[in-house]
Amino acid sequence: MIFTGLLFIGFGLPWHVEGQLFSRHRVDFSSKFLFGDVTFMWTSTMNSSMYSVSISKDTIPGLWTRVYDTQYTVRDALLYDNISINVRLPESNVDNIFTFKVSKVKTQIGETVNLSWNASFFPLAGQYNVYHTYSENRTIFSVRSNGVSYGGNDQSTKYTYLTRPYNSINIMFAIRDITLDDAGYYRGGSWAGAAWSGGGVVLIVSDKPSKSKVTGDLNVEVNRYITLTCSSQSTSAPDYYSKLVTLSYTWFVNETKIDRETTETLRLYVAKDIRYNRYSCTATDNGIESDRSDTVQINPLYTSTLTGQRKMNIQELEMENLRLENTKLQKEIKKIEVETEVLQIKKNFYDVKLQVIRNEHPEVLAQMLKDNGC
Ligand SMILES: *[C@@H]1O[C@H](CO)[C@@H](O)[C@H](O)[C@H]1NC(C)=O
Ligand SMILES: *[C@@H]1O[C@H](CO)[C@@H](O)[C@H](O)[C@H]1NC(C)=O
Ligand SMILES: *[C@@H]1O[C@H](CO)[C@@H](O)[C@H](O)[C@H]1NC(C)=O
Ligand SMILES: *[C@@H]1O[C@H](CO)[C@@H](O)[C@H](O)[C@H]1NC(C)=O
Ligand SMILES: *[C@@H]1O[C@H](CO)[C@@H](O)[C@H](O)[C@H]1NC(C)=O
Ligand SMILES: *[C@@H]1O[C@H](CO)[C@@H](O)[C@H](O)[C@H]1NC(C)=O
Repeated sequence: MIFTGLLFIGFGLPWHVEGQLFSRHRVDFSSKFLFGDVTFMWTSTMNSSMYSVSISKDTIPGLWTRVYDTQYTVRDALLYDNISINVRLPESNVDNIFTFKVSKVKTQIGETVNLSWNASFFPLAGQYNVYHTYSENRTIFSVRSNGVSYGGNDQSTKYTYLTRPYNSINIMFAIRDITLDDAGYYRGGSWAGAAWSGGGVVLIVSDKPSKSKVTGDLNVEVNRYITLTCSSQSTSAPDYYSKLVTLSYTWFVNETKIDRETTETLRLYVAKDIRYNRYSCTATDNGIESDRSDTVQINPLYTSTLTGQRKMNIQELEMENLRLENTKLQKEIKKIEVETEVLQIKKNFYDVKLQVIRNEHPEVLAQMLKDNGC
């Protein structure tokens, strides 16, 4: 059941009396981090079966809810930086607040990282163990006032404890040559249960997202919008992180990046010439880009076959007109050629006639008449 904090005002006893009644009761908190979820646990000096609980995530204030338990779990804690719980005793308006800081370190395969946190105390008589929990529960090294043991060895190629003196509560160590198996939760303490306790660090190892793929209806009518979708998966670890990852996307037309298109979907207007464009995409996780998808091409369909047919006919007619025009011109050229020949013959005939009239050179004249077949 959910109700707001305001409901408490006006209930029961006046404020100052309430304060006196409930101030003697304390609420103590502890927390644990299990596979991406944070569980808050509390004990109260007032034995109550019901508490009012409100959870704030980062700057988002929570609503009040009744809890018939002494613990409360918040799922997918990696989405936030701070998660605060406020527990009120029944009919009290005294706030009991505890904040879980979600400490995350992001890295990539092959890198070296430093992880650090503060221990509440250093066990002077015993040893402080540093635990890693993901696919298995492991103690990666143990610190005593006089030195460090990496599983029985005094050094390790994987881990290096950096803090001096050894009994400091500031815990800091390096992890080298990161692999996906190094992802998970790191925390320390003197007993195994501390491996899950709050206050540790989540190591996130980013890897190349799976090869992307473009999907969408590629056979579309012209003059419409279509949506192409780019799909890919994060392969980062831990899995309770990768399931929350929002990949960013890059779209390409032919080989050119399309500016400002960074979401999973691409909306396109289908014009006739869109068929020549090749579309592809990549997905990016924490700066690591996937292999480029295979390209797709869109096949625009005409809204009506009649319009399509008519368009083809007009084009064909234009071609036919050009062909006819060409033939006509060829014929005219032929005709002009013939006319030229006729005119030439006529001219020759008149030349001969002119010579006859002048009668100047009878032997030349005779030859010319002979040449012209007269
Ligand atoms: C709370 O209950 C437990 C057992 O039910 C009892 O031992 C304890 O004294 C109670 N505490 C208070 C403050 O009433
Ligand atoms: C988380 O808490 C810390 C310390 O209380 C604060 O500095 C930081 O701004 C908070 N972050 C968000 C996102 O609320
Ligand atoms: C880790 O801490 C050590 C000691 O403070 C420092 O020399 C080193 O540069 C740090 N490495 C990284 C990867 O931050
Ligand atoms: C540890 O405590 C010191 C102060 O003693 C503080 O400066 C530092 O930021 C803390 N480190 C972490 C990782 O909380
Ligand atoms: C790790 O320890 C926790 C708490 O004891 C347990 O629930 C979990 O099953 C263990 N995981 C493995 C792989 O042993
Ligand atoms: C993509 O390439 C084709 C074929 O080379 C070309 O016709 C088309 O105009 C190109 N598209 C863009 C948007 O550059």
